[in-house]
Amino acid sequence: MRRLNKKKALNFVKELDAFPKVPESYVETTASGGTVSVLAFTAMALLAFFEFFVYRDTWMKYEYEVDKDFTSKLRINIDITVAMRCQFVGADVLDLAETMVASDGLQYEPVIFELSPQQRLWHRTLLLIQNRLREEHSLQDVLFKNVMKGAPTALPPREDDPTHPLNACRIHGHLYVNKVAGNFHITVGKAIPHPRGHAHLAALVSHETYNFSHRIDHLSFGEEIPGILNPLDGTEKVSADHNQMFQYFITIVPTKLETYKVSADTHQYSVTERERVINHAAGSHGVSGIFMKYDISSLMVKVTEQHMPLWQFLVRLCGIVGGIFSTTGMLHSFVGFCVDVVCCRFKLGVYKPKSMSVFDGHVNSLTPLLSENAEH
Ligand SMILES: *[C@@H]1O[C@H](CO)[C@@H](O)[C@H](O)[C@H]1NC(C)=O
Repeated sequence: MRRLNKKKALNFVKELDAFPKVPESYVETTASGGTVSVLAFTAMALLAFFEFFVYRDTWMKYEYEVDKDFTSKLRINIDITVAMRCQFVGADVLDLAETMVASDGLQYEPVIFELSPQQRLWHRTLLLIQNRLREEHSLQDVLFKNVMKGAPTALPPREDDPTHPLNACRIHGHLYVNKVAGNFHITVGKAIPHPRGHAHLAALVSHETYNFSHRIDHLSFGEEIPGILNPLDGTEKVSADHNQMFQYFITIVPTKLETYKVSADTHQYSVTERERVINHAAGSHGVSGIFMKYDISSLMVKVTEQHMPLWQFLVRLCGIVGGIFSTTGMLHSFVGFCVDVVCCRFKLGVYKPKSMSVFDGHVNSLTPLLSENAEH
């Protein structure tokens, strides 16, 4: 009884066989079939090869969400050179709560404002990349992907001996501020704390020495990641007037970056800038200096690098192989059919089974008769 059931099941499975065995004698190989097969295999190999590159490629996915992290501190990374002596300038941050943030993280280093030829070249290249970045946004993806390979956006050191007097001041380092809007500024005189905000001791500095020409080599927020270019990196401003005010209005967007190489909490920003000459007589009031007002967006961008999963790659490979195989098979038989039809119609006049044409030579005496009959 059991054996019978087993046999039935086996028969059933046999019936399901989609690959029935064809006896060898039924299989005929032809030259055209061989050619088509070679073409099909070449196409398969090529497409599979290219598909592999698609599989290896990655892309960036952007998502937006509300930034819920408001307790952590925001780090500001600065590297600015101002065309004034270090003892005359001071940099600090005031945040929205009017509390002065300790700026001990900043170092003042006397340097020369003019760049050496090699530094100039580096600077020009940086500006060139910045321009391209503004036009072609997909470049940003490339930068994100190669984040660890990139060179840091810091000016290379001078290669020549400084013969000039050190007439400029490079202010660099980092600060931690509260995650609220604020104002980072560089003005004349060192800042001194004051019960209501702070003041800069500027009385001792002559107006003739004022020169707020500056170069921003680096300005970023959050974790410092080499290889990422920030919008203000490379900005250079030369002022013709002693009393000039430079303002940058910065909107910071928290960005979570997750690539296959690195995962980091960083910040991107956009900036608008304005500059004007301070002239109290002409009604243009203010304080000369460099002011950077920043505000933090409540939206966060999540950038993740993505990749085609392996199963999808395998499915696509199967699609390529199977699709080409059956398509070329169909094309081959279709072309064969067409050739048959054309041959029979124009050469022989009437339809004849394929096997007959093989004996053409022998049945020559018969065919003319037949075709003539058909024509009349
Ligand atoms: C400020 O310094 C820069 C660079 O040294 C110079 O080109 C510019 O003429 C100076 N401006 C003033 C008003 O002295």
